[in-house]
Amino acid sequence: MNTSEIPALTEAELKLLQALVYQECGMHFDDRRTSFLQDRLQRRLKECQLDSFYSYYRLLISQPGKQELTRLVENLTVNETSFFRNKAQLDLFQHDVIDDMVRRKQEREDYSLRIWSAGCSTGQEPYTLAMLVADALSYHHLRTPQAFESPFPKPLVPPPWRVEILASDINYSVLSAAQEGSYLEHRMAGVDYGYRLRYFDKVGDRYAVKPSVKELVHFDFHNLKTEYLPQRNDIIFCRNVMMYFDEAEQKRLVEKFYRCLNPHGFLFVGHAESLLGLTNKFRMVHRNSGTAYQRVEVNA
Ligand SMILES: C[S@@+](CC[C@H](N)C(=O)[O-])C[C@H]1O[C@@H](n2cnc3c(N)ncnc32)[C@H](O)[C@@H]1O
Repeated sequence: MNTSEIPALTEAELKLLQALVYQECGMHFDDRRTSFLQDRLQRRLKECQLDSFYSYYRLLISQPGKQELTRLVENLTVNETSFFRNKAQLDLFQHDVIDDMVRRKQEREDYSLRIWSAGCSTGQEPYTLAMLVADALSYHHLRTPQAFESPFPKPLVPPPWRVEILASDINYSVLSAAQEGSYLEHRMAGVDYGYRLRYFDKVGDRYAVKPSVKELVHFDFHNLKTEYLPQRNDIIFCRNVMMYFDEAEQKRLVEKFYRCLNPHGFLFVGHAESLLGLTNKFRMVHRNSGTAYQRVEVNA
């Protein structure tokens, strides 16, 4: 089928497909983004060699069409990301949130930290968090009287601390690239030479995340539209994901994040996103222009 043979997408077909995508993954295509949706639908129709958008819709809702639905969703996600994205917010994370959390946890002799990067794309966000937490804990270790013997060689995370970073996405292709953890120079903007030296190996023309950093990060598939999401997190990063959802879906997601966080846990959203008008179960904290939201406890 050549381009001129692609059938027109009727208003009714567009509505059906829009509703299906929304129901599947929460992504909402308003008027500003309909042409993007149309373009991706046309590509998939051509690939599947179908003669109408209605037959494509029928395929998507059928059992054998499950794989095609996954492929369509992958074609609709925006995966833009970078290392050390939103520096002001990461300063707040490293210098205030982690510092405060580590002190509070230490008092309870709880030495675990669990962070979830929801919508991690190709991995730059969770690897950035791993590097920042490793540095924050090492510095904390340096300032604290040593109750524990330091093993040799020195591990990235000083014992008895255990760090678990869960990184998830709805797109299998980006998850596979994230797991690989190997980046070309132009993806390394924002990673200064100190971080490059300590946390990456240069392999040919690529920078490979060191195995010790990779060990802290666990990648998994999670669709934020579902109810079965990772629980007991101290901190959740969900940046530049909610902006593709409508208000109703954003409210549902924030409610789910509340339940996925430990008491007093923190939620970080993107620079262009906010919880304003979505919930009163979080309070905003900030350092300079970096912001985050802390879970409010009912009986606190
Ligand atoms: C723009 S990227 C943001 C990456 C990173 N958080 C950042 O801010 O740099 C958005 C990511 O969210 C993922 N995403 C979109 N809808 C999702 C859903 N329903 N469940 C899980 N991930 C989703 C996309 O696949 C994409 O990789």
